[in-house]
Amino acid sequence: MNDPKPFFWNGSYHVFFQHNPHGAFWGTMHWGHAVSRDLLHWEELPVALAPTPGGPDKDGCFTGCVVKGDEDRFHILYTGVDPQVQCLATSDDPNLIVWRKYEKNPVIGEKPAGFGACFRDPQAWKEADGTWLMVVGSELSDRRGGAALLYQSPDGRLTDWEFVHALFAGHEHETGFDFECPDFFPLGHGGWRVLLSSRNKTWWHAGDFDRENLAFERAAWGPTDGGGLFYAAKTLFDDQNRRLLFGWIREDRPENEQKAAGWSGVLSLPRVLSRLPDGALGQEPAREIETLRAARTTRPGVRVPGNGAGVPLGTFPDTLETQVRFAPNAPGERLGLRLEWTDGARLEIAHDRTANRLNDAPLTLAPGEPLTLRVFVDRSVVEVFANGRACQTLRVYPKPEALGRVTLALFAHGGSVTADADVWEMTAAPVERRRRKAAPLPAQPT
Ligand code: FRU
Repeated sequence: MNDPKPFFWNGSYHVFFQHNPHGAFWGTMHWGHAVSRDLLHWEELPVALAPTPGGPDKDGCFTGCVVKGDEDRFHILYTGVDPQVQCLATSDDPNLIVWRKYEKNPVIGEKPAGFGACFRDPQAWKEADGTWLMVVGSELSDRRGGAALLYQSPDGRLTDWEFVHALFAGHEHETGFDFECPDFFPLGHGGWRVLLSSRNKTWWHAGDFDRENLAFERAAWGPTDGGGLFYAAKTLFDDQNRRLLFGWIREDRPENEQKAAGWSGVLSLPRVLSRLPDGALGQEPAREIETLRAARTTRPGVRVPGNGAGVPLGTFPDTLETQVRFAPNAPGERLGLRLEWTDGARLEIAHDRTANRLNDAPLTLAPGEPLTLRVFVDRSVVEVFANGRACQTLRVYPKPEALGRVTLALFAHGGSVTADADVWEMTAAPVERRRRKAAPLPAQPT
């Protein structure tokens, strides 16, 4: 899988995603589909969209969005290739399993003049006054930066779209040369909105949206994750007024090993987004995840020497959650948590006080603010949340004989510190498959 496209309706969390039914490698993009009622237990449903031979999506159904139209009608806007054009599919199925492509696809057949090659990943939404708007990911000419192109559907039927202007354009040296997978949504109160874009990392841009002039003024920006392994992230809005962010966690091992494993790419844990007082993006793991907590180990007041030697917390199954709170104002330069496997594989999650970074994510602690790490290990996937606002996704591939157990240790450089730590083993939540691997793909009318 790559590129999740999350959508909430009627008590169910749907995640559509880029999917190649022919193997664990990128190609022949279809839309896979999974559903969950609790954000933990997922059921994989039949493929939602497949390329139509001879159609505008003959070379792939790329990323897009799912939206609810009038009554109980649902729409997918997505990119057909090649060339990149925007297409529409519709469903009256309350389970969102059966989709019908619009017979006059594409709904946008050409990119506006003056922009570069990228023209994909539409994200549509309905304003409070009923106006349908949409952004499409693009780029300025000469790779100068990404651009989110704003469109409007004059009659609200989503079959005709007029180009308005570039809602926002970034700089190549800041957020990459194009904007893949844009998302645009309100967050908190007032006119505050967040634009997401992906290139190298998934970035957030936050600011005020002037509804009248359809203008977005960016006031703050940053990465949603320190690394590029969390990518193409997009959101849904649920019935608890939560804006939840889901990312594609990429592999970090050679393609032949991915193919041999038979799987590639996973869905991240859902992150609850918020607007922080300084305008930055707050990110916390959805609280549902805590219901998977099993056996707990508590280590209060651990004394961590400042010489870098780790203090072990213990050896645990490699499906766990840990929460570590370091005492505030630690004198050291670098401190954090080390994960070690018996074959020598090792990860460090470290806050650097001089660089103000948690691994590769910016994190400046206020005076007196303790460093608080929440780390989820699910075998090769490690997801780190720090202080409600910095995240770092990591991958690790220990040798088969080293799988299953991981040793956790706290460490500090340049000054000792105390920490309180909790570790929970996590209960498994396996994915159910309603679609058998060899099942034929559904025929798709043009
Ligand atoms: C991002 C992306 C999208 C595109 C899709 C194709 O990972 O490149 O821009 O629609 O993947 O699978």
